[in-house]
Amino acid sequence: MTPARRSDGATDLRVQLGPLRLKNPVVAASGTFGYGAEFRPYLDLNDLGGFVTKGLSLLPRRGNAPPRTCETASGMLNAIGLANVGVEAFLAEKLPALRGCGTAVIANVFGETQDEYVAVARRLNGAPGLDAIELNLSCPNTEKGGLAFGVSPPVIREVVGAVRRAAPDLPLIVKLTPNITDVAVAATAAKEGGADILSLVNTFLGMAIDLKTRRPVLDNVVGGLSGPAIKPLALYMVQRVRSAVDLPIMGMGGIANCRDALEFIVAGSAAVQVGTLNFVDPGATTRLVREIDAWCRGEGVRAVRDLTGTLRLPAGTTPGPAAV
Ligand SMILES: Cc1cc2nc3c(=O)[nH]c(=O)nc-3n(C[C@H](O)[C@H](O)[C@H](O)COP(=O)(O)O)c2cc1C
Repeated sequence: MTPARRSDGATDLRVQLGPLRLKNPVVAASGTFGYGAEFRPYLDLNDLGGFVTKGLSLLPRRGNAPPRTCETASGMLNAIGLANVGVEAFLAEKLPALRGCGTAVIANVFGETQDEYVAVARRLNGAPGLDAIELNLSCPNTEKGGLAFGVSPPVIREVVGAVRRAAPDLPLIVKLTPNITDVAVAATAAKEGGADILSLVNTFLGMAIDLKTRRPVLDNVVGGLSGPAIKPLALYMVQRVRSAVDLPIMGMGGIANCRDALEFIVAGSAAVQVGTLNFVDPGATTRLVREIDAWCRGEGVRAVRDLTGTLRLPAGTTPGPAAV
């Protein structure tokens, strides 16, 4: 048996999420970390648990017109419009450049139709150097009136099942939208469709107004809110999903320091993802790894995985949306 603490006294940071093994629980989130190589000037990718690429579609996309980001109180709004190089350029140019990077490479996948999700996933299945795919279910379903895939349990089951069949060799992470009444319902549907791992949450829908012009700040009008402003909302959703569905979780939303990351782990995450913080400090993810290690040593925690889901709820607490 491998000892839980390494001989140099460092914490055992390894985590196992179903079929996916990570060297530590810190993963850079999709859309905030490019295709990985862009962050080489700021950190050693080898020090990360993993990173998730920008969302990939079948064809390249330019995304929305600017302005497509704006700062808000304790957060940011973005309406990038899923600009990306497309799956073929990713496979030909981006993925080969990551060979030997020493960390888990996770491809984020989206489509405007179920067939597009399937086609992207099929292209990625078996790609050398790719460790998992993450399905972004926040994308509007153009065949079903533009509602996001992730708000309808039958649609979630169907798209997750179809991707599962198209990419049988890769661990399948399903990323949930928080823009739904009860995220546990979506999580259950993802599990029924064949998800190995759940990641949550994506951004919350929001907008900003320029009072002087009385126009929306974002050209797209609506954007996704991320950053510290959403942390309590996201933390609740992780706890909610943990209490309802038996799948490993990657929790995220507003993580800005080591204590935030640890709170997500205690709430039920086996690993965490870090997004908006990368814009503030591009080296933050590897610093978080060191700080989690130091915190665990200080608290006598030998293996970080032992912290997952250790939240102590008051006796008699019933899982589920509660009256407040
Ligand atoms: C500029 C930007 C682009 C994003 N692009 C994607 C994307 O392509 N796919 C996706 O699943 N999530 C995307 N996200 C959502 C993040 O991965 C993450 O779920 C969200 O920002 C919450 O985490 P945070 O508060 O740490 O940023 C994006 C977020 C931002 C800020």
